[in-house]
Amino acid sequence: MNALSNKPDLEAFWMPFTANRQFKAAPRLLSSAEGMYYQSDDGASVIDGTAGLWCVNAGHGRESIAQAVARQASTLDFAPTFQMGHPIAFDFATRLAEIAPEGVDRVFFVNSGSEAADTALKMALAYQRVIGQGTRTRLIGRERGYHGVGFGGMSVGGIVGNRRAFGTQLPYVDHIRHTHDLERNAFTKGLPAHGAELADDLERLVGLHGADTIAAVIVEPMAGSTGVLLPPKGYLERLRAICDKHGILLIFDEVITGFGRLGTPFASQYFGVTPDLFTTAKGITNGTVPMGAVFASRKVHDTVVEGGPEGAIEFAHGYTYSGHPLACAAGLATLDIYAQEGLLTRAAEITDYWQDSVHQLRDCPFVIDVRSIGLVAGIELSSRPGAPGARAYEIFVDAFESGLLVRTTGDIIALSPPLIAEKSHVDEILTKLRDCLKRAK
Ligand SMILES: Cc1ncc(COP(=O)(O)O)c(C=O)c1O
Repeated sequence: MNALSNKPDLEAFWMPFTANRQFKAAPRLLSSAEGMYYQSDDGASVIDGTAGLWCVNAGHGRESIAQAVARQASTLDFAPTFQMGHPIAFDFATRLAEIAPEGVDRVFFVNSGSEAADTALKMALAYQRVIGQGTRTRLIGRERGYHGVGFGGMSVGGIVGNRRAFGTQLPYVDHIRHTHDLERNAFTKGLPAHGAELADDLERLVGLHGADTIAAVIVEPMAGSTGVLLPPKGYLERLRAICDKHGILLIFDEVITGFGRLGTPFASQYFGVTPDLFTTAKGITNGTVPMGAVFASRKVHDTVVEGGPEGAIEFAHGYTYSGHPLACAAGLATLDIYAQEGLLTRAAEITDYWQDSVHQLRDCPFVIDVRSIGLVAGIELSSRPGAPGARAYEIFVDAFESGLLVRTTGDIIALSPPLIAEKSHVDEILTKLRDCLKRAK
């Protein structure tokens, strides 16, 4: 047996989205987790201000999920879902359909948010082709959007640092403008009042390219990874209306917002705007086993599935691990916890306390905006001249050393604790962060 150590050799693992040399010179290692807390390798307790990476919505160390995965591993470890099936994948899809927005309840399993984005984009192209709109091959994203790291998601994504190193992007992609406007919306409580008109940027692209070239537009209803950008009031409704007017499919990326983050199962229910397709991952298994799912409207699903000849594979797409039994077992146990503990609507109960608490940071040094929704917050800092991102990174390190996990993007600090957070946890997170902000240089 290999010996496992809390002090592993760090060289072999090429770490993702990490400054490898910097990390390996001063590593931060997490060894175990329970409830709202991680334990670091030196035994310190670290409160999880970010639900891991926006995924551990029910908190850490949930025994029923562990047991369900263990049971499944010894019953049916793996079985294909290509021209075959296994019951638990159907059961899980059925349970997911029960909490889906009305009519968007056909579920395609993938293994990550990135795969979900690429899958949804391909579904949109397939749909347009089946309805005789095969010239619609253009995909529209939004500046500052994040849809993972596959070539599809990267191409429609709009975070420059994720794009510029990789040259080749998908052809026939364009972007509408982002909605971030500190001049008009800084320190807004609730949704920003200004910016609904930015949805009209899609009309500009229709004018430029022609609607008959555009298959779909993909946006995060609340943009998380770029630093918590809330949609302006009326913006998503307007985007939906423009899509309808021009026969463009609307895709929501709900990889972060799915599974209760805003206080409803999905953000589309929070905003009352229904997409044609939406992507999920992360909270679908409470982060325990990699999985994602694309939810398709009956219109898209039925059109594609009924559009091909009988006996032919209608959608030539899927992954070896689509609907993996262990992930389905984890997902079903996760949904049970969400239902038993009311977690898919729990954020709505604590959101006022959360909002008031995070807005108290507005008088801290360098803070130029505070925004929040559901159980998410973004705290934007002014950048140090010539060193964008440095200030927030130093706060991230200081916070970790003080026992708090936060996430940073540029000079924005994002918070998204597990949905089990009590007021005392909120207080602990914000007291620690306030102390770090006071020490910031
Ligand atoms: C909105 C959104 N889409 C897609 C992804 C990519 O998910 P994954 O890292 O599971 O591929 C993320 C990850 O943070 C995300 O926030």
